[in-house]
This record gives sequence, structure tokens and C-alpha cells, in this order.
Amino acid sequence: MSASGREVVLGVGAGIAAYKACDVVRRLQDHGFLVTVVPTPSSLNFVGAATWEALSGREVATQVWENIPGVAHVRLAQEADFILIAPATADLISRLAQGRADDLLTNVVLASGAPIMVVPAMHPHMWTNPGTMENVQMLRSRGFTILDPDIGRLTGPDVGVGRFPDTARIIENFEGMVGTTADLLGRKILITAGGTREPIDAVRYIGNRSSGKQGFAIAQAAFARGADVELIAANCPDLEIEGVHITRVETTQEMQTVLEARFDLCDILVMCAAVADAKPAYVHEGKLSKEEYTSISLIKNPDLLAEMSSRRREGQVLVGFAAETQDHLESARAKMERKGVDILYVNDVTGGAIFGSDITSGTILTRSGGKMEVNDAAKDTLADVLLDHVLFQLG
Ligand code: C5P
Repeated sequence: MSASGREVVLGVGAGIAAYKACDVVRRLQDHGFLVTVVPTPSSLNFVGAATWEALSGREVATQVWENIPGVAHVRLAQEADFILIAPATADLISRLAQGRADDLLTNVVLASGAPIMVVPAMHPHMWTNPGTMENVQMLRSRGFTILDPDIGRLTGPDVGVGRFPDTARIIENFEGMVGTTADLLGRKILITAGGTREPIDAVRYIGNRSSGKQGFAIAQAAFARGADVELIAANCPDLEIEGVHITRVETTQEMQTVLEARFDLCDILVMCAAVADAKPAYVHEGKLSKEEYTSISLIKNPDLLAEMSSRRREGQVLVGFAAETQDHLESARAKMERKGVDILYVNDVTGGAIFGSDITSGTILTRSGGKMEVNDAAKDTLADVLLDHVLFQLG
């Protein structure tokens, strides 16, 4: 299983419908899935490896004899959260039913415990042939999800059952098997994570304890729900999230520059970052000596969330975070009003709690007066709950 929970192996059999599977790759990606294509060797007669590599952005192999030290069939099988085989020919279905392992795809299927969906496409006589029907029956009884092909025009002049279904039907059924829906499809979400740092001199800075974990969790969850995600990461670990565009910043001013450039284009802004409220009035060029390092004069930083809120357009949803150590609910309500946000997650960070942890506790407040307690939830879980609230606000 992958960390994202969205890794899909797309197996492609040697049917002419292989060309339609190019669209399946794209739509899976739109829906937040990360796709590795494993074509059967003979399917390359229809669509070549270069096409799959270009579409998926990943290397493509067809045999276990390629990249031997990488043990591709075991690695792919372990990383795959789901397997989708589209199109599946009568021959491929037969090989799956027999449990054969004569190419990379069938090896991956045997080595994996992931849910598998098969989308057959073939001539009606091949589909209704008792041999194929028995194989399909056998695979269904083993837990494979097998879509019935569509009825309609086939490659030759014939009409009948065996047509490769529309991409939309495949994706809908696949999401049904996976148990999610891409409810943020087509939405642009801008997320800030981590904590800004303000330099004092060449080596020192004023910073805070925000780790960036919550912001990264929201970015990952939003991507998995189909959103177009952009993350502004302030002093976070050097992690990547495949499919998410990350801009790294250090100071509040750098974050402000990126926010100002991107805010108008987004539908949702989640200001998860802990932004430094103030910065040194002067940044010393070199390193201050111990004798000079006795006091720092501060000037206030702009409130980025309030600034974005003041220029928001109709329909944009704004989410803020607040870390408090006292009277947290009253001050959070006031903060919500002051900054003009729709949803605010407030947590009590007395004693440094929550920072750097995978677990969070706090309260979700909504502008309409809603209040929801969160107790010892994984930051991944909170991410999805917050996105549910965002979806509600978006209407
Ligand atoms: O620090 P404070 O509790 O005011 O932060 C609440 C929210 O405001 C957070 O979402 C934070 O990202 C944002 N903020 C900001 N600019 C600041 C301070 C905070 O955008 N200078």
C-alpha cells in the first residue's frame, strides 16, 4: 500500500480499445489517482510504451526481465492500492483465471492483494463464448470486479455486446469500488503550510514550531479528492506530494508575494501556516556578536489572511487556523470575524501540544455559528473533515 492510498496500476490488454485507455489514464489523474501503466507485451502493437510513459510520467515495463534488481512485479504489487485492467481481452481474462504469470501484468496481479477491476472489450462471440463466460464467473467468485461490456458498434461492421465502456462509466464504477468520489474535481485550492521565519542576522531567525504536517495532509487529501492543489510551504521538510505543485518560501514577505500572485485564481484558500506576526525592524547583514545580541526591535507583519479576505471574490471559501493557549473559543470567534474567514480550526497548543504530532485535537468553527469538536484525530482525518466543510460552503 502506498502512503497516498491512491496508487493505481492500470493494466492494458491487447485490444484496439487500448487507445481509449489513454483517456482513462488522464481521467484517473484528474480524480487524484497516481497511475503506473503496465501494458501486456502484445498491446504495444496498438499503443506504444512512449505514449504510456508520456501520459503517466512514469517508466513502463511489460516483462519481469526488465530492471531485474528493481523486482518490478513485487514492488508494483506492494505499492498498488488498486488495479484496473482496461481493456481486458479474452486471452488476458483466461490467463488471469488460470493464475498464470507470463508477463509483468499477470505477475503483478498474482503478487498483489489490492482490489482489482477488469473492463473487458472484445467481439460479442468471444465475450459470450462459454470459455470466456466461465473465466469471468471464476474471477468474479474470487472477488474481481468485472464490468459488463457495453452494447454497440464494434471495430468491424458488427454490432453487439463487447464494446469498451465510456471512460465516465469506468471511472464511476472504479470510484465505487475504491469507495471515494472526486468531489473537489475542477476546484483550485491554495494551501499554506509550516511556519514563516524572519531573519535577525546572517544566522539567526525568529520562527515558530509549526511542522507543516497538517498543511501537507490537507494538500494530499484535496488532491485525492480531485482538486487542483497548490501548496506554499514555509520551512517544511523536503517532502514532495506527487501531483501537487509546491512553492517553498521562508519569510512572511515571500509567502505574501506568492499568495498575492495565486489567490485570485483559487476557489479555496486554506491558511494552515503559522505566519510570524512580527519581524525584526532591521536585518543585520553579518552575524551579530554576542555583545550586540541583546535586544531586537520588531515591526508588525501584514496579516495575510485578512489581506486575502479583503480582496476575495464571490464564491471563494477561506479557511483559517488558530493556535491558542487561553480562552481559545472566544478569541477564535473574534478572529474569524476580524479576518473574514468561513471556517476556522482552533487548537489549544498549551505546552507545545499538536506541533509536529500526527494527531490533533481542537474545534472547527464555521461562520454560520457551527461548532464541531475534534478529539485525538489523525491530521489526515481532520484534513478530510475540513474539506467536507469547505464543500458544504461551496454549495
Ligand atoms: O496568528 P493568528 O492566530 O492570528 O493566525 C490565524 C490565522 O491567520 C492563520 O490561518 C494564519 O495562517 C493567518 N495569519 C496570517 N498572517 C499573519 C498571521 C496569521 O495570514 N500575519
